[in-house]
Amino acid sequence: MYVLGIETSCDETGIAIYHSKQGLINHKLHSQIDMHSQYGGVVPELASRDHIRKIVPLIKQSISETRLNNKDINGIAYTAGPGLMGALLVGAATARSLAWAWQIPAIAVHHMEGHLLAPMLEKNPPQMPFVALLISGGHTLLIQVENIGNYCLLGESLDDAAGEAFDKTGKLLGLSYPGGAKLAKLAESGTARLKFPRPMTDRPGLDFSFSGLKTFALNTINASTQSEQDRADIAAAFQEAVADTLTIKCKRALLQTGLDKLVVAGGVSANQHIRTELSKMTQQLNATIYFPRLEFCTDNGAMIAYAGCQRLMAGQQQGLEFSAHPRWALNGLTKI
Ligand code: KG4
Ligand code: ZN
Repeated sequence: MYVLGIETSCDETGIAIYHSKQGLINHKLHSQIDMHSQYGGVVPELASRDHIRKIVPLIKQSISETRLNNKDINGIAYTAGPGLMGALLVGAATARSLAWAWQIPAIAVHHMEGHLLAPMLEKNPPQMPFVALLISGGHTLLIQVENIGNYCLLGESLDDAAGEAFDKTGKLLGLSYPGGAKLAKLAESGTARLKFPRPMTDRPGLDFSFSGLKTFALNTINASTQSEQDRADIAAAFQEAVADTLTIKCKRALLQTGLDKLVVAGGVSANQHIRTELSKMTQQLNATIYFPRLEFCTDNGAMIAYAGCQRLMAGQQQGLEFSAHPRWALNGLTKI
């Protein structure tokens, strides 16, 4: 079964073709980062318009590069939420219209389910059950994954998501949007000589809170000479605090659930320091850690095509109406 995947939840137009037996056949990504960075963040209306411009050419390109015809596609998976309403509607309307024209099924995919299944596209995919840490620009979730669609929320951020904290702290350090990867680069030339707090680690539970770290960073920046070295040291200290906090909570989640596999996905899982710290912890626990390849940590069409393919193969599909949910809980999904 060939599944066309469409991702348009935020500022990336992602298209992919996944085959149920051959795996990922093709994927295309158009990032809007350059367009939004001049405004310091994503401008929803500009995002929607750019998705409209890019979506059909990218789909055509993806299908022609794989030497397939439109009639070879057996199903279409699209991100139906959570995300920006206008951006989601572009993907949903395009997917549903193509599926109707081609007389094939369409399936709505939860964006975070896409992220959590992204490591399934790798050579040694994790077997379920596992604990998943999803760290993106909009979410920080710790989930017990029993099976596709069977998700138990263990913990989440009570305020800023991990990626949001990176982006906001990056902005305070003078880095352009999105600041996550740039802050990580800046931290390479710094030392974490300053001690940032590890929020909510001194009490039981698996929830997170990252907004205090941004305020702590602001106060530290104001109290410093703001030299290049100071900025790098603050970036390193902030990054270390996020990595430590995530590591402490993931260790707790593994011990609490008795599971020995940890999947880490979402844009922030591209962070090398966080990867290293989490890997050290899982090694100590004799557990195994799984990440997507770097390009599939951030938003992409491949994870949506994969997730949709699993659901379509299980016989699920949407009616002719299309759906878009800017807010959508992960633990209410249909199980496979
Ligand atoms: O998953 P994603 O592409 O989009 C959402 O679903 O939100 O995640 C984007 C987030 C941004 O906040 C970005 O700054 C962050 O991931 N990010 C990073 C790194 N690469 C991307 N944060 C820290 N270190 C990185 N290397
Ligand atoms: Zn995402």
